[in-house]
Amino acid sequence: MSETKPTAGPGSGPMGILNRIRQGNIWKSIFRQGYPNSDESRALAIVNSFFLHIHPVRVKRHSLKISYTWGLGIISFILFVILTVTGVWLMFFYVPSIERAYPDMVNLETGVTFGMLMRSMHRWAAHLMVITVFLHLCRVFFTGAYKKPREFNWVIGVLLWVITLVLSFTGYLLPWDQLSYWAVSVSTNIVGSFPVFGTQLRLLMLGASEAGPEALIRFYTLHVILLPLVMAALIGVHFWRVRKDGGLSAPAEATSAEAKAEAAGNEQP
Ligand code: HEM
Repeated sequence: MSETKPTAGPGSGPMGILNRIRQGNIWKSIFRQGYPNSDESRALAIVNSFFLHIHPVRVKRHSLKISYTWGLGIISFILFVILTVTGVWLMFFYVPSIERAYPDMVNLETGVTFGMLMRSMHRWAAHLMVITVFLHLCRVFFTGAYKKPREFNWVIGVLLWVITLVLSFTGYLLPWDQLSYWAVSVSTNIVGSFPVFGTQLRLLMLGASEAGPEALIRFYTLHVILLPLVMAALIGVHFWRVRKDGGLSAPAEATSAEAKAEAAGNEQP
């Protein structure tokens, strides 16, 4: 005789329907374990979920304190996502040629639904990202979070900072208006005056002796494909390193309190 465990019936009414759904195969195939009400089932809920596994199973209390990180890394990431979404949208209405670039931008502002909104969101998010990434860099520096074992992630961070600036610079030329044309002419002339390799570097950036179609297509390709892809990959490595380095660094007070608690055999404070 097969052994059957007595289970509570699904009941009737809306709760009954909900219970029946919860006991059905479809629900159980998606949600593998029941309500997580123990340390073990809470850990399993995180580890077994594709969406949740990006979070660590245990979070140290100090890393939830907003005044330690100010959320600057996450804000920078959200801005990167906004820039990617609005940037792809802008690509539908922009042709990177010197005949089309400027009229396309004008048309975007006046003749495309939500054009001005999308363009402004892209521009503002770009300015904000330069600020938030820089502030994040300062936070990491002033909390000493670049020290062992996070040196490698600091180096990845420096690359992210450089790419943020180069993305900003390459995007600046794309409207092909007076401001962007002269800004890029002046800055590449400055590069051209560098000793030893200045002339070659300027030629590499512009693809010609002065800013023209060659420069526009170079800046465009860097701005919409190469740099965003490299940045997305580096952000992935950056987040992975934060997890591998044992989560966020701790403020000095938290580290000493944790050490004391560990020595006393207690849970972390
Ligand atoms: C696209 C730019 C960047 C993004 C999206 C990003 C994202 C993040 C996030 C989400 C964290 C987790 C904690 C937090 O929010 O502060 C973090 C931590 C960290 N970031 Fe960044 N970051 C960027 C640029 C940088 C830069 C420019 C540096 C330094 C040069 C840097 C170095 C670090 C380090 C060392 C940590 C570990 C901090 C700790 O353990 O306290 N990151 N980053």
